[in-house]
Amino acid sequence: MNTQTLPGFVTAHLGQAVGAYYDRTADLYAQLWGDDIHLGYWDAGERPATAADRRPATERLIRELVGFAGIAPGSRVLDVGCGHGGPALYLAGRLGCEIDGITLSGEQVGRATARAAEEGLSGRTGFRVADVLGGGIAEGAYDVVWAMESLMHIPDRPAFFEVALRALRPGGVLALNTWAVREGPLDAAESDLVRRILHNQVLPSLDSIEAHRRMAEAAGFAQVRTADWTIQTAGSWDLDFAQLEQPAGGRAHMMQLARQRGAEVLRFFAAVPLMHKGFTTGVVTCGALTAVKPGAAR
Ligand SMILES: C[S@@+](CC[C@H](N)C(=O)[O-])C[C@H]1O[C@@H](n2cnc3c(N)ncnc32)[C@H](O)[C@@H]1O
Repeated sequence: MNTQTLPGFVTAHLGQAVGAYYDRTADLYAQLWGDDIHLGYWDAGERPATAADRRPATERLIRELVGFAGIAPGSRVLDVGCGHGGPALYLAGRLGCEIDGITLSGEQVGRATARAAEEGLSGRTGFRVADVLGGGIAEGAYDVVWAMESLMHIPDRPAFFEVALRALRPGGVLALNTWAVREGPLDAAESDLVRRILHNQVLPSLDSIEAHRRMAEAAGFAQVRTADWTIQTAGSWDLDFAQLEQPAGGRAHMMQLARQRGAEVLRFFAAVPLMHKGFTTGVVTCGALTAVKPGAAR
């Protein structure tokens, strides 16, 4: 098992910091990345060509997780960390799922709600500000708990798996993908890279994919399966694809935004080359996990 952690003083108010980060960068994400705030997925050997390749690749990641976890059409879904509603609107629109989406960012709730209305999906989707560990998640109410690239922000991961288990009906499915760290010890340079990534991406720690499996099993999940999608998602951090070279208005505009809004904006831009290095060296990984709540046939 491998776990890399930021010092406690950085994580003391993590929920507020994550919410502020996504509030202050919501328009940048929408402008530069679209409304899927997660990695793209490519076959081995494929690479992104232009920024126009982003949406097909990020939608592919959603389809891969749907397939990996076997999400059934019409499922009642708790979407933990719904972002701008990209995955939620896919699940509602293509699979007829009913979505209860939560996020730490009010800006994201506004965008997700507006997009649902534009796409005629308001009747099957709801979005609100809530911390998954803050209490108030309905118990036994969901067929699926879906967490696309949100678990890496959550400081108490064993508690997340316990909340997810309680939220599901017996036979319900957990489906997630998350950033992780390579199994085994890291050298000093690798540890320093991870520490900078944690700081810039507002993450409390990174665990290995195998550590996630153990946490799911310890919480009481059955049929736990994991997959390593690092190679398939690494192209997400290609510098052109991430549009790092062309933040709207160039570097001067970026610095002006940082002065107006604070450090979150600089973190958004600083993180891309660090993640590129993390993924290409295999120090930072992307893991998928699915599991079933025992007690009934799926
Ligand atoms: C990288 S974004 C992913 C957004 C979305 N899942 C997607 O794929 O487009 C991370 C999301 O996790 C949410 N998040 C982080 N920690 C959370 C927590 N403790 N409770 C609820 N949401 C959380 C953030 O607010 C944000 O919406």
